[in-house]
Amino acid sequence: MSRLDILLGLQWGDEGKGKVVDALTPNYDIVARFQGGPNAGHTIEFEGKKFVLHNIPSGVLTPGCVNIIGNGVIIDPHILKDEIEGLRMAGFDLRETLMIAYRAHLILPTHRALDAANEKALGKMKVGTTMKGIGPTYTDKTARKGLRIGDIMMDDFREKYEKLKQSHLKQIAMLDFDMNELRLDGHTFDEYETLWFEGIEYMKQYPFIDSEYYINEALDNDKKVLAEGAQGTMLDVDFGSYPFVTSSNVTAAGVCSGLGVAPSRIGKVFGIFKAYCTRVGTGPFPTELFDETGERLRQNGHEFGATTGRPRRCGWLDLVALKYAVMLNGVTDLMMMKSDVMDDFDTIKAAHAYRFNHVVNSRVRFWACTETMEPVYFTFPGWKQKIEGKIPKKLEEYIQFIEKEVGAPVKFVSYGPDRTQNIWR
Ligand code: GDP
Ligand code: IMO
Ligand code: MG
Repeated sequence: MSRLDILLGLQWGDEGKGKVVDALTPNYDIVARFQGGPNAGHTIEFEGKKFVLHNIPSGVLTPGCVNIIGNGVIIDPHILKDEIEGLRMAGFDLRETLMIAYRAHLILPTHRALDAANEKALGKMKVGTTMKGIGPTYTDKTARKGLRIGDIMMDDFREKYEKLKQSHLKQIAMLDFDMNELRLDGHTFDEYETLWFEGIEYMKQYPFIDSEYYINEALDNDKKVLAEGAQGTMLDVDFGSYPFVTSSNVTAAGVCSGLGVAPSRIGKVFGIFKAYCTRVGTGPFPTELFDETGERLRQNGHEFGATTGRPRRCGWLDLVALKYAVMLNGVTDLMMMKSDVMDDFDTIKAAHAYRFNHVVNSRVRFWACTETMEPVYFTFPGWKQKIEGKIPKKLEEYIQFIEKEVGAPVKFVSYGPDRTQNIWR
């Protein structure tokens, strides 16, 4: 009997999950997404080619690996179709390897319209969502109104769709939002709705499964399963900087509900973090840099969103938040990404505490969501050399400091976007 391993982001998303899932996939039989939806943008690079995955697990580029979109995920059929077709053109046929949970919820075009209407109504307080309909879809799920993949097979699917759509249109009208203004990936609402129904038909060629049985039976039969997280711990709906968060549990706990796997069956928890921090969208970011150094991180690290193209906010590593994330997820193995981005830095900083109201503390307390925390930094000398296959001494010292602060070992250091640019420690 095997245990299920988890790989998830420990910061505000975009830590490099796609790259590492792809790099680890040869060790696994199954890769499964457990939450989130097309708000994710997971980049994989090899042999000079680059792929960005949104709704599909990052194991799809490894021949033979089964990829499951689990029950906790939400799916936009048009985006999914587009993504599968893009991969087909690049030579990856997913018909033998991609499976979709019956219980996964559908993102309707009106969920996306509601997302836009909600954001507009919030004005300056907007979350800065990816506009993929994430919040409204999870809202309907918990309100017990949502439509699921399994519903597609029912005779009354169209009726159920219309009913939900009409209730959304009423909410949108109450928000004073003009549907004629709306563009969904460049399409009018009506055009998008047509594409969406084409996506629904298209999806039917893929097996719909009770993924909880599939995964538990695979574990019983000693198969190796990796759960792939989306977003990052600081965007978790319970523990992130609420309300500037996504609408799912992105932490390890989300795997149990998002795949139907019991806590006793969890094995390793790989926690990924960048050697610095980034965030897209609104919300607190204590170590954010508004100066030249922030701009250097953005340029060196190509910090522009994989889903929306937005410039990512950049700042120093936040060890208070990282330690919190390690605790919440029970991280067994840390993986440090993008250390190469700081190869030419003279000095590097990392926050080990926050100062608030003249009091210093090293916890992400409730107030971290509502008040401005002033970071307290340690400063390190830069390693001032390229990392190629060997960890420079000064970087090693930086890593050892991180391990001591957060209480978990760094087992893996990534020094470039390619699937081969890794050092195991
Ligand atoms: P994800 O959402 O966690 O999968 O991360 P994204 O794909 O949104 O963003 C990570 C970006 O960093 C992508 O463009 C990756 O190709 C790139 N990347 C990943 N690891 C490294 C690394 O170690 N160094 C550099 N320079 N880039 C990396
Ligand atoms: P990956 O998986 C970075 C952010 C959005 C916004 C907030 C809510 O690529 O790491 P949503 O559309 O989910 O309602 O937006 O969460 N966000 C992400 N930021 N990486 C992501 O995914 C994200 N998914 C959502 O920018 O601040
Ligand atoms: Mg991303």
